[in-house]
Amino acid sequence: MSFISKIKKEKNRPLFVLAPMADVTDVAFRTVISDAMSPDIYWTEFVSADGLIRATASGKYKLQKDLLYDREKQRPIIAQLFSSTYKYMYEATKLCIELGFDGVDINMGCPDRSIEKQKSGAAMMKNPDLAIDVIKAVKDARRDFCEGGDSADFAVTVKTRVGYNSVELDTWIPLLLDQEVDLITIHARTRKEMSKVDADWSHVKTVVNMRDAWALNNEDKKAPLIFGNGDVKDIKDAYEKSMTYGCDGAMIGRAMFGNPWLFKDIECIEKGDFDFKDKFTPSREERIKSLIKQVEIFDRELGDVKSFALMKKFFKTYMTGFDDAKEIREAIMSMGRAEEVLGFLRGRV
Ligand SMILES: Cc1cc2nc3c(=O)[nH]c(=O)nc-3n(C[C@H](O)[C@H](O)[C@H](O)COP(=O)(O)O)c2cc1C
Repeated sequence: MSFISKIKKEKNRPLFVLAPMADVTDVAFRTVISDAMSPDIYWTEFVSADGLIRATASGKYKLQKDLLYDREKQRPIIAQLFSSTYKYMYEATKLCIELGFDGVDINMGCPDRSIEKQKSGAAMMKNPDLAIDVIKAVKDARRDFCEGGDSADFAVTVKTRVGYNSVELDTWIPLLLDQEVDLITIHARTRKEMSKVDADWSHVKTVVNMRDAWALNNEDKKAPLIFGNGDVKDIKDAYEKSMTYGCDGAMIGRAMFGNPWLFKDIECIEKGDFDFKDKFTPSREERIKSLIKQVEIFDRELGDVKSFALMKKFFKTYMTGFDDAKEIREAIMSMGRAEEVLGFLRGRV
C-alpha cells in the first residue's frame, strides 16, 4: 500500500495537497506554507529528468535546487519529473529515492511548448507508448532501489488532463489504470483549453467511476487513488468538490497565491467546523514576517541560480488586506535586491 493510501485511511477524509507550480512552489514558498500548516502532501515544481542526468555539473546544480526541501517539515513530498525517455526517468527516480523523496509524479499535462517538443508533459497523451514506458521506468526504479522493492511506501503517481484536443477519458484513463500507479491527479481541462475555461469537475467523477469499475474487474490488481484539480478556491471548496465528485482528494495550485496559510483551514474540518467559522486570517505582522521569511530563504537557498524578480509576484500575496499594504508593496516593487527588501520590511514590524 502506498503512503498516500495509508494517509487516506488514517485521516478518513479527502486529502488536500499542494500542486506543483514551476517557480512558485520552491523551498522558500513551501517553508511559509509548512510553518503555517502542512498540506497532506507536498509536490515539488516540475524538473527535467533528462537534465538531472545529462546536464553539465552547473546545470545539474541548478536543477537540483528545484528538488530542495526541508526534510523535517515538508513531508511527505513527491518530486515531479518530466521525460519521455525510460533511461533518464529511471536514473532520475533513483536520484529522488536517494534524496529521500516519498514518491515521483510524472507530468503528463503541461502544455508548455518546450516541454511538449521533448514529447513530455501533455504530449504524453498523444504518445501512449512513451507514457507506458516512463511509468515503467519509475516503477522499475522503485523495485530496484527502494527498501521493500515493489511493495515499498514510495508512491508512483501521474498528473494529467482529461484529453489533448478533446475529452479522451475513454481511451486515456484505461491505459493509465492498467499501469497500476498509486495515484492519478486529474486537472479537469483538456490541453487545448489550457487554463482559459473553467475546470469541469464532472470529468473527475467520470474518472472515479472508471476507476471503480476497473477495480471490480481487476481484483488482483492495484487501483489508484484519484485526486481532482482545477479552480479550487480554498479548503472549503476543496472539501465540497471532493465530496460532490467522489474523489480521494483535491490538489490546490493558484489559490495559494492569495493565501499561503490556506492549509490551516484543514483544522476546521478536523474540528467538525464544516461552515468554516474559524477560518484563519493572518495579521499584518504575520503577513510581513512571512514575506521576510520567504525572501530570506529564497536569497539563501536559491539566490545564486534564480533571479530575484521571481520573488516579486509574491509581494501582493503578502502585502494586502491591511492599511499600509499598498504603500509597502509599491516601495518594495521598485527594489532589485533581497537585502533592500529585507531591510525595508524589517523596519515595518
Ligand atoms: C505558475 C504555474 C506553474 C505551474 N507549474 C506546474 C508544474 O510544474 N507541474 C504541473 O504539473 N503543473 C503545473 N502547473 C499547473 C498546476 O499544478 C495546476 O494543475 C493548475 O494551475 C490548475 O490548478 P489550480 O486551478 O488549483 O491552479 C502550474 C500552474 C501555474 C499557475
